[in-house]
Amino acid sequence: MPSELRTEIDDALRFIRTKTSASPSIGIILGTGLGALVQEIEKETVIDYGDIPHFPVSTVESHHGKLIFGTLAGKNVVAMQGRFHFYESYTMRQITFPVRVMKFLGVETLLISNAAGALNPSFVRGDIMLMVDHINLLGDNPLIGPNDDTLGPRFPDMSEPYSLELLERAQVVAQGLNIKVQKGVYVAMQGPSLETRSEYRFLRTIGADAVGMSTVPEDIVAVQMGMKVFGVSIITDECFPDTLKPITLEEVIAVANKAEPKMTAILKEVVKGM
Ligand code: HPA
Repeated sequence: MPSELRTEIDDALRFIRTKTSASPSIGIILGTGLGALVQEIEKETVIDYGDIPHFPVSTVESHHGKLIFGTLAGKNVVAMQGRFHFYESYTMRQITFPVRVMKFLGVETLLISNAAGALNPSFVRGDIMLMVDHINLLGDNPLIGPNDDTLGPRFPDMSEPYSLELLERAQVVAQGLNIKVQKGVYVAMQGPSLETRSEYRFLRTIGADAVGMSTVPEDIVAVQMGMKVFGVSIITDECFPDTLKPITLEEVIAVANKAEPKMTAILKEVVKGM
């Protein structure tokens, strides 16, 4: 008997298949203030999350929650317009459900972006950080619960959570575009409160270069299902304990919007080369 999760995935797939026969090999999840790449997709089919069985829907983002099928730089892609955070009280299973569906649609590579605060003192706001690794401090894991072996292993290896091959390709692409990029470790916190000075000091001490509230659940599920992941953070603020200044969401979004074209350009070139 298929697991409950597998049954839900199959329900979602069956509905999506009544709308499109697309088989995208690339999936895209965009972070806060980083939706512009979606505008660059030549859209073929757009499906409201609310219409897809078992897809989480956001009351706040009900007008943005869309699964977009189309082409980007000539490649077939599927993009999530609107994502889900743990601090919104979605469960890990809800947050990662679309990633599981993407896998069954044909996605082999997942591109994920986010806005993050700098812990590494050599970073400045507006920087682009390519993710090399992560630390999960969300206090939860999307794989907790009964494991369906048809979806992936019980204890997936996490020695390469972000594809080294894609990371290298992105570095070459960035150099070609004359865009400076940083590389680093992303730590995921629950939020939604930002961190205290002492927490920033702690996060830096344990080896993180940037802090945010997303991406890790989606990455874990993608890796469990055998996908390659490319993660990119836009550094929106400095989280240096000794010189910390107050920051608002508006400022974070303003910096994200300003730096976004750099990220969009890199992602597009990476997709083009795939
Ligand atoms: N913490 C601090 N600063 C941030 C974050 C965060 O989670 N995300 C973006 N800037």
